[in-house]
Amino acid sequence: MAFILAPSLLSADFLHLEKEIEMINQSEADWLHLDVMDGVFVPNISMGFPVMRHLARISTKPLDAHLMIVDPQKFIPQFRDLGVRSLTVHYEVCPHLHSTLMKIKEAGMKAGIALNPHTPVEALTDIIEDADMILIMSVNPGFSGQKFIPRAVEKVQRLKKLIDSLGLNTLIEVDGGINIERGQWMVEAGANVLVAGNSIFKAPDPTEMIRQMKREI
Ligand code: DX5
Ligand code: ZN
Repeated sequence: MAFILAPSLLSADFLHLEKEIEMINQSEADWLHLDVMDGVFVPNISMGFPVMRHLARISTKPLDAHLMIVDPQKFIPQFRDLGVRSLTVHYEVCPHLHSTLMKIKEAGMKAGIALNPHTPVEALTDIIEDADMILIMSVNPGFSGQKFIPRAVEKVQRLKKLIDSLGLNTLIEVDGGINIERGQWMVEAGANVLVAGNSIFKAPDPTEMIRQMKREI
C-alpha cells in the first residue's frame, strides 16, 4: 500500500551525521523525521538549532519535525527558517492549540498534532479540521528503541473513522516501535506516514531496510 516513510534521525550514529543523512538522501525514504526534546515535557534532550541547521542544509528529503517541548509556539520562526515542511506539536503542552496551529500555517508549514498514548482521539473533535496531520504515538515520547504499545493500532482505526466521517484528508502519522510487521498493521488501520528509528538505523543495511519497508508494507 502507498505510504510515506520517515526515518527518525534519533537512532542514527550522531558521530557521523553527515554520512547518515547522505544515506537517507540516496535511499527510497520520503521524509526525514527530526525529534526535538527539551528535558521538560519528556525526560530526554535530543538536538537543538546549531545541529539542525547543518542537517537541514544537506538533507534533500522534506523535514518532518516532531516537537516534544513545552511552549513550542516560541520556536515557530526558527523552524520556518530551517525550511521544515511539517511541524508537529504535542496536544498535551498546548493550552492554545488552535492559535499555535494557525501560527505554524501562517509561517508556511504543515501543522501537526501529536497525541501521547493516553490522550484519546476524541479529544481532537473540535480541532482536527485545523490540522494537516495527526501523529499517534505508539510509545511514550522521549527515546527510540522502546516497546510498541499495541493499543495504538485501534487508535489509528478510530482516528481514520473520525477523519472520514468529517470528509477530511488529514494525514495520520505513527511513531514508535515501527518495523515491517507493525507498519503493515498501521497502514491497514489507516496510517499514511510511518516513522521508524531503530528498525532502520540498527539494521545491518539501513538502505536495504528502507527499500524492504517500501516494498513489503
Ligand atoms: C520517540 C520519537 C520517535 C523515535 C522512534 O520519542 O518520537 O521518533 O525516535 O524510534 P523507534 O522507531 O526506534 O521507536
Ligand atoms: Zn518522533
